[in-house]
Amino acid sequence: MSYKVLLPQPILPEGYAYLREHGFEVKDGRGFTEEDIIADIADCDAMIVRTAKITRKIIEAAPKLKIMSRHGAGYDMVDIEACKEKGILVCTAGGSNAVSVAEIAIFNMLYCAKKFKAVQAHMMEDYRYAKMGIKKGELEGKTLGLIGTGNIGALVAQKAHFGFNMNVIAYDPFAKNVPEYIHLVEDRDEIFKQADFVSLHVPALPSTIHSVSDREFDLMKETDGIYGGRFSGAGFKGCCMALVDPSKRASIVKTMTKRYLHAFPNLEGKFSIHFCQTSNGVQF
Ligand SMILES: NC(=O)c1ccc[n+]([C@@H]2O[C@H](COP(=O)([O-])OP(=O)(O)OC[C@H]3O[C@@H](n4cnc5c(N)ncnc54)[C@H](O)[C@@H]3O)[C@@H](O)[C@H]2O)c1
Repeated sequence: MSYKVLLPQPILPEGYAYLREHGFEVKDGRGFTEEDIIADIADCDAMIVRTAKITRKIIEAAPKLKIMSRHGAGYDMVDIEACKEKGILVCTAGGSNAVSVAEIAIFNMLYCAKKFKAVQAHMMEDYRYAKMGIKKGELEGKTLGLIGTGNIGALVAQKAHFGFNMNVIAYDPFAKNVPEYIHLVEDRDEIFKQADFVSLHVPALPSTIHSVSDREFDLMKETDGIYGGRFSGAGFKGCCMALVDPSKRASIVKTMTKRYLHAFPNLEGKFSIHFCQTSNGVQF
């Protein structure tokens, strides 16, 4: 008898082949809504989860389920309590996409420092202005403030320090064995006060959800003409209230826009904020 693995969303062909070569039966699900998964899961022993939200209702409809593996980092989308009660093992593939996410964080910092959104908007019709008229900054020698120094945060620190000679400070109350080029701070506010760029790489927990707001933006200093707000990160969805609560989001986007336009008064209305990359794909 082989174990049956439910895939609510498809994976790469190599993944299917690997499972079959190792004796598993693969069941392609009809979709990844709660209803779809409930309809598919009753006879499955295992499930590979990509972006589906795994609710208590799903767990209760899964009498045979023994293990669930998340395709990426973090358990944010899984009702861990419900799994614990049923003795279902939940795994993640932590670190598997860390390089890619860390590169995106560096990309976002460069995008911001080089004012790339403004450059892009102008370079076709006025290359000279895009090149000479838009003041750009550098990462070299700047301070990067990290919140979270796990798989992704540590890689961002390494790339920032060795690639751009950045001074790296970090807040992570659970940090272990950080390399000597990451300077841990005990007061989280110091990250916002000291850093030129802030990058968040924390899971969505009660201590991190909605933990960045106007207050933190207000602590930030000016860097290369940008006031309060040079952010990148993974796990942003849960961290930045601007992105989870639409009413608050409107206000913070306005605040950010106002600040950004303050740096570029001549571009008023021509572009919006560009420095947030989030785990749900929202990008300003
Ligand atoms: N945008 C994406 O595509 C994407 C991809 C991968 C991961 N993520 C998100 O990024 C998060 C981080 O990923 P990771 O692999 O580095 O995780 P990780 O578990 O290796 O590291 C998380 C770090 O956060 C620290 N931490 C926990 N609570 C904290 C707090 N209150 N303040 C400061 N630090 C705290 C932990 O000590 C740990 O060092 C994941 O939970 C996931 O949600 C997003």
